[in-house]
Amino acid sequence: MDYCLTSLTKISISTIFVAILLSSFSFTLTEAYDAQDPNGNITIKWDVMNWTPDGYVAVVTIYNFEQYRYISPPGWTLGWTWAKKEVIWSMLGGQATEQGDCSVFKGAVPHSCKKTPTVVDLLPGAPYNQQIANCCKGGVLSVRGLDPNNYISSFQLSVGIAGTTNKTVKLPKNFTLLAPGPGYTCGPAIVGKPTKFITPDGRRVTQAMMTWNVICTYSLRLAGKPPSCCSSLKSFYNGTIVPCNTCTCGCRNNA
Ligand SMILES: *[C@@H]1O[C@H](CO)[C@@H](O)[C@H](O)[C@H]1NC(C)=O
Ligand SMILES: *[C@@H]1O[C@H](CO)[C@@H](O)[C@H](O)[C@H]1NC(C)=O
Ligand SMILES: *[C@@H]1O[C@H](CO)[C@@H](O)[C@H](O)[C@H]1NC(C)=O
Ligand SMILES: *[C@@H]1O[C@H](CO)[C@@H](O)[C@H](O)[C@H]1NC(C)=O
Repeated sequence: MDYCLTSLTKISISTIFVAILLSSFSFTLTEAYDAQDPNGNITIKWDVMNWTPDGYVAVVTIYNFEQYRYISPPGWTLGWTWAKKEVIWSMLGGQATEQGDCSVFKGAVPHSCKKTPTVVDLLPGAPYNQQIANCCKGGVLSVRGLDPNNYISSFQLSVGIAGTTNKTVKLPKNFTLLAPGPGYTCGPAIVGKPTKFITPDGRRVTQAMMTWNVICTYSLRLAGKPPSCCSSLKSFYNGTIVPCNTCTCGCRNNA
């Protein structure tokens, strides 16, 4: 986007020409990123519901706050890197794709000992005793505006060898959110206000022990395609970049 601006100011074109360009230009600028939904994001919220003797139980909720981009089959895959030596004792509503090396555990064996676990949603029809609210859609998410019941996905995990207070918990790092298409770029986990929950009868409010959020945005960079001002709507959504001669602003080397 910087490139477009710089190249435009460098070129001395007549003001009239600029004026004509501007109307389509502002459109093109944001479009290179994501014209139709510049503020769209996927928010991942970790709510620590209770502390356990060696860690905590958290409900992780993925909100698709995008306006139109569904997550289609085979659905989302969420990964992160533990800050310390945490393990996942058990999960509901989702599962780690690999158990990893749990050989040091005698007796109870964790669900996953991976330093960088990767979690997927359970499939529809998962046994009732493995479900939680908003789970088990095979990782498929719609968007809020069109399908307000299905833009949220949740799973629960019991984390061990972790902090047991909001001062000793170390936030997981390096979140990755994969989905069909170029994928997403995720920021760091940031501690937020503890989420409040209203009981079904509306008569009591409880709150998370601690909450952190991760914001992920749709990424072209991950696909190996530099963000370019040369994308047109049609080509953007079908994953190709149009040739330079159809652009309204400076092109990079993607002709
Ligand atoms: C993510 O989207 C939500 C819902 O539209 C919005 O409230 C929030 O501010 C957005 N966050 C960021 C960092 O863009
Ligand atoms: C931890 O909990 C205390 C007491 O509720 C609160 O004052 C503090 O802000 C919390 N710290 C974090 C990092 O959540
Ligand atoms: C973050 O994750 C990516 C992909 O899994 C990996 O290549 C990278 O080394 C990780 N970075 C850190 C700091 O763990
Ligand atoms: C993407 O757009 C190009 C150029 O318009 C077209 O040739 C191609 O068939 C499209 N691909 C898909 C999957 O729609």
